[in-house]
Amino acid sequence: MIEADKLHKLFGAFTAVREVSLNVDDGEVVALLGPNGAGKTTTVRMLAAILKPTSGRALIAGYDVVEQAREARHVVGLLTEYPGLYNRMRPMEYLQFFGALQGMTAIESEKRGRLLLQQFGLWESREKRLDSYSKGMKQKVALIRALIHDPQVLFLDEPTTAMDPHSARTVRDAIAELRAARNQRSRPLASISRRSISGGTASSSCSRTRRSRSARLAARSSAGCSCSGSMPISRSRGWPVKSR
Ligand SMILES: Nc1ncnc2c1ncn2[C@@H]1O[C@H](COP(=O)(O)OP(=O)(O)OP(=O)(O)O)[C@@H](O)[C@H]1O
Ligand SMILES: [Mg+2]
Repeated sequence: MIEADKLHKLFGAFTAVREVSLNVDDGEVVALLGPNGAGKTTTVRMLAAILKPTSGRALIAGYDVVEQAREARHVVGLLTEYPGLYNRMRPMEYLQFFGALQGMTAIESEKRGRLLLQQFGLWESREKRLDSYSKGMKQKVALIRALIHDPQVLFLDEPTTAMDPHSARTVRDAIAELRAARNQRSRPLASISRRSISGGTASSSCSRTRRSRSARLAARSSAGCSCSGSMPISRSRGWPVKSR
């Protein structure tokens, strides 16, 4: 479902991501762990076809993220670190807006939006404008937005950052439910969930994770995803930059 081969990203002369390779199969939930600045967001942005790698190659559901970026974006759902909401909208209008960007009709996105709002416990609040939503409710709407077009691959960039423990738990449970639902439909979800090394979300949402004290990208999945490479924060701080 996700195949990355030696993804490398330079910003000017600075190496943000160094030759990261990974393979993720259908139905796997994988966490990328690393300290601040290790290159996790940059890796996800490359895999989601919104940032071009300097070198290396990645396929998402068979689509090349550079050559077939449009198709790749269509099969990906992305929850970014700082999702902006259109606060004057109500949740359904917001979801229909993003559904339309993914080529969905208003009826399709209304139907899917209703299901997801119910699943995330927001149906009762559907008439409220988003500016009256709490932080956790907004985060859930952002997650629903990422799911509106029923993507095959879901990328979550620190989905529970700044959430209270209860809301964080709700999101973790929702991720587990989504995964279970996918597996039951025999069209499993492959997703990457990530969070900084100090956090607990990744380890509790994934069957297996591996943490690293270095900036080296670490990943493990329920089915033994393979991953290698490194994302140096800064060479001057002495982060190891070897590849496997
Ligand atoms: N557009 C950019 N231009 C220049 N440098 C960038 C850019 N985006 C990221 N970087 C640099 O690349 C490195 C990796 O950044 P990235 O955001 O991928 O880290 P991260 O692992 O997601 O960190 P955090 O845990 O803080 O979210 C950082 O040193 C960052 O300053
Ligand atoms: Mg980040």
